[in-house]
Amino acid sequence: INKGNGVKGLSEMGLTALPKQYIQPLEERMCMTNINIPQESIPIIDMSNWEDPEVAKSICDAASEWGFFQIVNHAVPVEVLENVKDATYRFFSLPAEEKNKYSKKHSSSNNVRFGTSFSPQAEKALEWKDYLSLFYVSEEEASALWPPVCREQVLDYMKKSEVVIKQLLDVLMKGLNVNEIDETKKSLLMGSVRTNLNYYPKCPNPEFTVGVGRHSDVSTLTILLQDEIGGLFVRGNQGDDWIHVPPIKGSLVINVGDALQIMSNGRYRSVEHRVVANGSKNRISVPIFVNPRPGDVIGPLPELTASGEKSIYKQVLYSDYVKHFFQKAHDGKKTVAFAE
Ligand code: SIN
Ligand code: FE2
Repeated sequence: INKGNGVKGLSEMGLTALPKQYIQPLEERMCMTNINIPQESIPIIDMSNWEDPEVAKSICDAASEWGFFQIVNHAVPVEVLENVKDATYRFFSLPAEEKNKYSKKHSSSNNVRFGTSFSPQAEKALEWKDYLSLFYVSEEEASALWPPVCREQVLDYMKKSEVVIKQLLDVLMKGLNVNEIDETKKSLLMGSVRTNLNYYPKCPNPEFTVGVGRHSDVSTLTILLQDEIGGLFVRGNQGDDWIHVPPIKGSLVINVGDALQIMSNGRYRSVEHRVVANGSKNRISVPIFVNPRPGDVIGPLPELTASGEKSIYKQVLYSDYVKHFFQKAHDGKKTVAFAE
């Protein structure tokens, strides 16, 4: 019915009721209006003095207690963030046939993918979201294969974010008494990078569906740029409550992914999160997933287990871990069991 224009196409048809494929089971539904606000919030960390021992401690504490925090006064210029948001709108505004050049069926590479929902073939109920996923291999490949309407801006955002990523990983490793990031560790921590452009169109009956279902990321770290709409919720550190991540202009949301939870032997926590659908506004977000290389074997870092600490995870090939994640629908934090 929507001629390959994703949920954006459905939204723009002016539907008055949500198509039934998007109706989520009761326990997965959530909407902005049945949430108690104000409530606790995830930490907000000023990165201008990131090497200061107190700031470094607040980063490590946030990663172990919350698994999520926001950073302000970081090294990514605000124009770079604004430009990548504009680029995201430009991509999703392309005609359906242009976007479909990057669909699973037509894309000339697995590294560039326009899609909708998360894993539609595995899902009982679909998610109300379209995306463009860009796995970075080289400048040359990006120039040849990435959509021209967004590639410069995405590359710039990735490049400028690298500074922040290195600062954060440096601090987080020092917090584990890992003082040197050699080439092997660099590969494990930040050997590959994927950027997604997410588009969540406004939705009829948002209370019956989700933008993204409950999941944890498979990354080492995720750097997320969100717009001013809001709708990202994180599982609170007491377990049952869901905490809203309020948009702050110029900030980036940082979260620990499963790979870092595993490498830190559980010290840093990869925390479940979800995105609600919105009944009146379109939302975009642009996460950068910082990952091991697909061919890396991940497990608790030797520095941690050398002192006799028991490994709570086994060694797994990272590409197998990722494959396992994408083979099923979003299911909370169940992927981690693959490494137990
Ligand atoms: C996600 O975690 O998959 C998306 C987060 C967001 O859009 O805020
Ligand atoms: Fe996520």
